[in-house]
Amino acid sequence: MSPEQKKTANSPKPRTEILQISPYVQGKSQISGQANPIKLSSNESSFGPSPLAIDAYKSLASSLHRYPDGSQLQLRQAIADVHNLDPDKVICGNGSDELLDLIYRAYLSAGDEIILSTNHFVMCALYAQIQGAKIVLAKEANYLTIVDDLLSQVTDKTRMVTLANPNNPTGTYLNIEQIRQIHAGLPSSVLFVIDGAYAEYVITNDFDSGTSLVDSFDNVIVTRTFSKIYGMSSLRIGWAYCPTEIIDILQRIRSPFNTNGPALAMAIEAVKDTKYIDSIKEHTAKWQKRLLEELSAIGITVVPSVTNFYLLEFNQTEGKSAVEAAAFLESDGLIPRLLTIANGDKVLRITVGLDAENEAVINSLTKYMLLF
Ligand SMILES: Cc1ncc(COP(=O)(O)O)c(C=O)c1O
Repeated sequence: MSPEQKKTANSPKPRTEILQISPYVQGKSQISGQANPIKLSSNESSFGPSPLAIDAYKSLASSLHRYPDGSQLQLRQAIADVHNLDPDKVICGNGSDELLDLIYRAYLSAGDEIILSTNHFVMCALYAQIQGAKIVLAKEANYLTIVDDLLSQVTDKTRMVTLANPNNPTGTYLNIEQIRQIHAGLPSSVLFVIDGAYAEYVITNDFDSGTSLVDSFDNVIVTRTFSKIYGMSSLRIGWAYCPTEIIDILQRIRSPFNTNGPALAMAIEAVKDTKYIDSIKEHTAKWQKRLLEELSAIGITVVPSVTNFYLLEFNQTEGKSAVEAAAFLESDGLIPRLLTIANGDKVLRITVGLDAENEAVINSLTKYMLLF
């Protein structure tokens, strides 16, 4: 900025809602003095994408001067084939974040109410704030949304409910009966958005991402992403399954080339490589069990997670707090995510990594809890 730049009383003013928003803070990826830290702060996949998707990425290098396929046809078809869905009800976005943003822009106005769970995915609150909507929080018990409390908060101003299922930052999930119960209790004018960013990781039989509800009702949307189990965070691509009328609305406001060519080409291969995804799913489930057992045994409270991350509660006393645990892990070259949850407590959220990365977390936290 030039030092002479003039400020006038009449300088451009943003909408007042925007001034209430704090910019998003990304998970840390560097530790000073550590050349190659292990980043476990953003729920990414340490495995990276399917080799078939990487080949697709490389093969696109010579055609980057062309616009990508704005209709997203091949990817929508590939997603529909793998998940047994209607390709005309799939829309792809620049990460599922963009799709949530588009949905909120289209369906939330200033003064409308949106219900989120107490410990919700932060971007939902941010997009709701941009619209000037009022955020209403449903209570949780053991980090799980209380269905009756959520439904009791519906008023004639409620326009939307969004739940990440499984949820971030808690790693917990509501079963399909609970999801159906929520839907059944909502007026048909309320849009129920189910964010399934971690849906692929869940191995329990009572889970369903909710796409069958989209086929049956006109007020349900499911969002999904290629950023997590598919290992493509940097490519920025996600998708949503929506009723036809909602697809029509979102297509009106989506920018024509919101999904880039390399991301589309990779995602087509990634979604088809179900064998690769199954192996990561198996690895993650195995580690969730072991991390729960080993970290509980050394006195850390581990929130049972069905995702590729786990939330650790520490006792808040000096010497054994989450803040000090984060510093200790960092001194061992491991980067967790230090978070403040809704009740004000500091907790750590740590991504499930490769075998050696998970062993390193267990070793470091064992030293922290037992030796220091
Ligand atoms: C619950 C949840 N939803 C959506 C997203 C957004 O993912 P992306 O925009 O990378 O698809 C994330 C990312 O961390 C998430 O945790």
